[in-house]
This record gives sequence, C-alpha cells and structure tokens, in this order.
Amino acid sequence: MDMMRYEWNPRLSVNNEAIDHQRKAMIRLMNDLHFAMLQGKGREKVVRLLDDLRGISAEHFAFEESYLAEIQYPYLRWHRDRHAEFLQKMTSFILQTESNSIGLSIDVMNYLRDWLLNHIGVEDKKYADFRASQASTLEHA
Ligand SMILES: [Fe+2]
Repeated sequence: MDMMRYEWNPRLSVNNEAIDHQRKAMIRLMNDLHFAMLQGKGREKVVRLLDDLRGISAEHFAFEESYLAEIQYPYLRWHRDRHAEFLQKMTSFILQTESNSIGLSIDVMNYLRDWLLNHIGVEDKKYADFRASQASTLEHA
C-alpha cells in the first residue's frame, strides 16, 4: 500500500479564507484516518476519526452551502446533494467498520481520494469560478 498523503495545494483555493481553512482541516483529518488505517490502528480509533471527519465535514458543508446561497450559485441543489452523499458514505463506513468489514480501508481511501480530486479539486472550483465571473461582471457594469 502506498504512503500517499492527501495534500492541499494553492490551486485548490476557492478564494474564501474561511472555506479554504475548513477544507484544509478536512484534508488533515483525511490524512490522520489514512495513516491510522495503514498502521492497523484499532477499530475504535478508526471509527472515532471517521466520526470526526463526518462532523467537521457536516459543519463545513453547511457553511459552504449558505455561502453558495448568498452568491446565488445556480447549482446549489446539485452541490448540496453531493455533500449529503458524502455524509451518508461516512455513516456507512462507520457502520461497516463497527461490524468489522475486511478490506474496508481501501474503499475508504479510494473514496476520500476521489473526493479530494473531484469534489474539492473540481466541483468546489466551479463555484469559485462562478463567483469570480460574477465579481468581474459587477466591476464592469
Ligand atoms: Fe462542496
């Protein structure tokens, strides 16, 4: 298994300091979870980290969704559904970990990697681009 970390880089920024800060915290926790699983830490520890990740993600999503409502982002409903799926997935990983599923770590790691690449790296960028174009439209009005 590789020792790859989930990494923040400035290209992931959505030009909102609070939101970037929350996403960095999510990535830090994703790494903690990743290494706990790699090191074969006990089920209790993995469940606690999954639960922490679900908790800070729920807070972050609520914050981000209210920001998207504020800027009148047209794909808010779709975006909110993706967040809900993530939270459901965390719940399902917790239940599976509690029932001692074999080989779950790979599923968790793959899911989080995909979330970093496709949600944090792509879907969130779409509202940052929307916001930027909105701001430049206002400037030139
Ligand atoms: Fe998002």
